[in-house]
Amino acid sequence: MRFSGICVYLCPSVADKKNPIIAALDVPTAEQALKLAQQIAPVVGAFKIGSELFTAAGPDIVKKIRALGAAVFLDLKFHDIPNTVAKSVASAMRLNVQMLTVHTSGGLEMMRAAEESAQQTANQAGLNTPLILGVTVLTSSDSRTLAEIGCDQNIGAQVERLATLAAKAGLRGLVCSPLEIADLRQFLLSHIQLVTPGIRTGAEKSDDQKRTLTPREAIQAGANWLVIGRPIYAAENPRTAAEKILESIS
Ligand code: C5P
Repeated sequence: MRFSGICVYLCPSVADKKNPIIAALDVPTAEQALKLAQQIAPVVGAFKIGSELFTAAGPDIVKKIRALGAAVFLDLKFHDIPNTVAKSVASAMRLNVQMLTVHTSGGLEMMRAAEESAQQTANQAGLNTPLILGVTVLTSSDSRTLAEIGCDQNIGAQVERLATLAAKAGLRGLVCSPLEIADLRQFLLSHIQLVTPGIRTGAEKSDDQKRTLTPREAIQAGANWLVIGRPIYAAENPRTAAEKILESIS
């Protein structure tokens, strides 16, 4: 069923039937993004628009992807003072996106402001409240990266700390490494959606991702959504690559 994936948090009864692939549109122009989206729309569950594309193409690209009937995950990873993040979330909401990200390292107050803003803006506009996803530790980071910024925790402890804070702030979803899913599932309430980048099929190089799993392994570990960029958009045939990934988890 096309784009049934977004139903996972609107109607949990169909959660087991969703397409969990979120294809990252990490391309530099609106033309490339639209071409890619049209090509793979039938075989993915949603599209992720990140800072590269959004900075180049602006809010218009969100509207154009939404006009295809597709769910949009706006991945701008907000991290600022609570008032600014609340207003940024409200602006994103007016684009009718279904998911968006904030950095959990922005703190409790900032995350609460983001969630409250999403709920209020959605109520006022008569829209479904989007999932505000907390980004814990980027999957390109390792313990040395954390040490460089003065954080002496190991990755697992830091992810757990940030995830606990996000849940306390009322967030209903988290972005995490696939290798953290099993541990997170042990203490997070089951309604919290886990979204995992760092997915590699084994057929391509890992690039800058340091903590990866295959799509099947990530789903088996308890991921609700898989964010997949280069294994799809950099493939010789993105449609075939997405189809193969979908088959591997069906
Ligand atoms: O190309 P690749 O599959 O590595 O792309 C992963 C996508 O997920 C990128 O858009 C990246 O910005 C995003 N992401 C990530 N790690 C996080 C959060 C988001 O790689 N922790």
